[in-house]
Amino acid sequence: MFILLVVLCSFTPKTDEELFIDSLLSQMTLEEKIGQMNQLDPSYESEAKEALIREGKVGSIFNIVGAKEVNRLQRMAVEQTRLGIPLVVARDVIHGFKTIYPIPLGQGATWNPDLVEKAASLTAQEAVYSGVRWAFSPMVDVAHDPRWGRVAEGYGEDPLLTSVMGAATVRGYQQSPMTNILSPVKMAACVKHFAGYSVSEGGRDYNTTWIPETQLRDIYLPPFKAALDAGALSVMCSFNALNGLPSSANPHLNIDILRNEWQSDALLVSDWGSGSDLVPHGLCADKKEAALRCINARMEMDMQGNIYTDYLADLVREGKVQESQIDECVRSVLRLKYRLGLFENPYVPEPDGENPLCYSIESLQAAEQAAVESAILLKNDGILPLSEEYLHAKKNPTVLICGPMADQKKEQLGTWIFDGEAEHSVTPYDAFYNREKPFHILYEPGLTYSRDKDPKHIAKAVKAAKKADIILFFAGEEAILSGEARCRTDLNLPGAQTEMMAALAKTGKPVVLVVMAGRPLTIGREVEQAAAVLYAFHGGTMAGPALFDLITGKAVPSGKTPMTFPKTVGQVPFYYNRHNTGRPTYEPPVLIDDIPVGAPQFSVGYSSCWLETATEPLFPFGFGLSYTTFEYSRTTVEPIADREGFYTVSATITNTGKYDAKEVAQLYFRQKSGALVRPICELKGFQKVFIPAGESRKVSFVLTPEDRGYWHEAHNGMESRVWFAADETEFEAWIAPNSAK
Ligand code: GLC
Repeated sequence: MFILLVVLCSFTPKTDEELFIDSLLSQMTLEEKIGQMNQLDPSYESEAKEALIREGKVGSIFNIVGAKEVNRLQRMAVEQTRLGIPLVVARDVIHGFKTIYPIPLGQGATWNPDLVEKAASLTAQEAVYSGVRWAFSPMVDVAHDPRWGRVAEGYGEDPLLTSVMGAATVRGYQQSPMTNILSPVKMAACVKHFAGYSVSEGGRDYNTTWIPETQLRDIYLPPFKAALDAGALSVMCSFNALNGLPSSANPHLNIDILRNEWQSDALLVSDWGSGSDLVPHGLCADKKEAALRCINARMEMDMQGNIYTDYLADLVREGKVQESQIDECVRSVLRLKYRLGLFENPYVPEPDGENPLCYSIESLQAAEQAAVESAILLKNDGILPLSEEYLHAKKNPTVLICGPMADQKKEQLGTWIFDGEAEHSVTPYDAFYNREKPFHILYEPGLTYSRDKDPKHIAKAVKAAKKADIILFFAGEEAILSGEARCRTDLNLPGAQTEMMAALAKTGKPVVLVVMAGRPLTIGREVEQAAAVLYAFHGGTMAGPALFDLITGKAVPSGKTPMTFPKTVGQVPFYYNRHNTGRPTYEPPVLIDDIPVGAPQFSVGYSSCWLETATEPLFPFGFGLSYTTFEYSRTTVEPIADREGFYTVSATITNTGKYDAKEVAQLYFRQKSGALVRPICELKGFQKVFIPAGESRKVSFVLTPEDRGYWHEAHNGMESRVWFAADETEFEAWIAPNSAK
């Protein structure tokens, strides 16, 4: 049987794609092959880099944009090299191209994959017509540490939420299954950073990571697998050393898992110079050894590192590298280009004037909807929405618009903005000033930027507040405070915003706090002083209109926290799916007929300062209020007939308030004993449902053995092995509005 199978496999006809790649590869010289493994940023030293393109020594360029410029460089590759292999043009298109959507952490807060997919699709449409065919996104690094600046670029702390949103972004960018039919709006995704980058010690970017194999597989790898299952055409290495081995030179990640276990044929590209970084990492004595270690770990394209073009040919001639190793890397490069249709049509249409697809009505509407759904209502004493009826009682009230983020066109776009133009941003001040509203507005920013500490600026806001009935305080972070190499050692509002909030609250006027930031912040004091709190992250081009609609009740908040909000930075890392430990810091109250009995017990060594309890977060994962209220029925868990180990988990949610609204129903799971200690709860499903006021909706999930499974580990002397399985053990499953219920 085995022999028959081998014979059959050898006769499996090759696809057109494979035949094309075989044929092209057979014509290539060693130098031309190595050229395809080289990715350069020709936006500086352009003369030298253009010469390399003409010599066929560049496979991809990035940080170049605009149909004319891209076509100019492309003509060098296609018309001036021996084989005319086209370049693939890449760019950091992270949360929008010209039209900017909320930062990915904000998109995670929408819990709406359809919306995220639409945003990615419209983004691809804008970018492709500007010459970009490969986006260095989605970033799916599951993050537990808000000090790390790059939490802004991921979808939060949960593997499932991150997996769903990463896959949605891949689908949006790549539009349809990669059927080789050139679709002008198709752009290759690049899922990053592979892997474990977000676990950097101390939340310091690029820092060391130590991750046990089972935790790597339970928490950090699933979003990469989900993105690849969604068709992601490429993967990017991470900068960090994972358990002593930097990802670019890590055969366990790049060959054992990515190629052998997952059978992926996606292109693996380094991060910026992450191959040459092996020398400062202390792994390699010099860049030639770095090239050897990277090719032996099958890092297939060298981004801006020049180690492959400088050393690979010599390593082959010295017999240290087989040309077959080069061939398998070049196949991946040619496959990406083939699937993008670049060989048929390497050029981009050059529209007369601006790209008509940028800032389209459809894009701007999608950006506004994403900003609406990314905002989280954290507190509301009833002041919101500032609706007609609420304001009517105030007889023509005056609303003060203040704060360092109220009118910041650039800052509200957030991190990783290359092409989004601040002049297209609509700020909260713009929206409140220009739109019809049942109140007068006053505008006095007070602090003029997020790190401003000038008490005179606060005094100006307090003076204006005395003339107002209601204060809208737009606080938060400048965009530069999050993103790559933008970590913080405290999570408070920057500058003197805490002092400004206290001064505004002291006026006795109600303060609505709106936070526009790149991470969860420790805003406990400000929450106590505010009448209401909307957490909007950096909401992008249309953040202003979205916040206007939310505050005036034209839209109802539906966002939920994608990360735990700690009370203080001393609690970090703090995440919901933690282990109970042998001396739990918090035992959920026992529920008898859904009624909590007995106060939760705290027994921790923390010497809490102003914190009532240092063991509880400020806001748990999955938390978010609405202008309406929702009531959840008891959850039912029913085994599915003739499907061993499969269960239907259901609950009915009733909108008991007066606003039609969306609610994110979350399915949580917990086993209370088993082969290994397991989390006190894990998200295993979610559905965002629209429920009209007064109506009910039943939500159901299927809980599978796969959902209940996790990675086990056994050791035998020096040997160890891991395997995935579900324990046969009792478990609980429940549907709730957040992880703390
Ligand atoms: C950066 C980032 C990566 C980005 C790349 C290209 O260092 O780590 O996310 O895509 O370089 O700009």
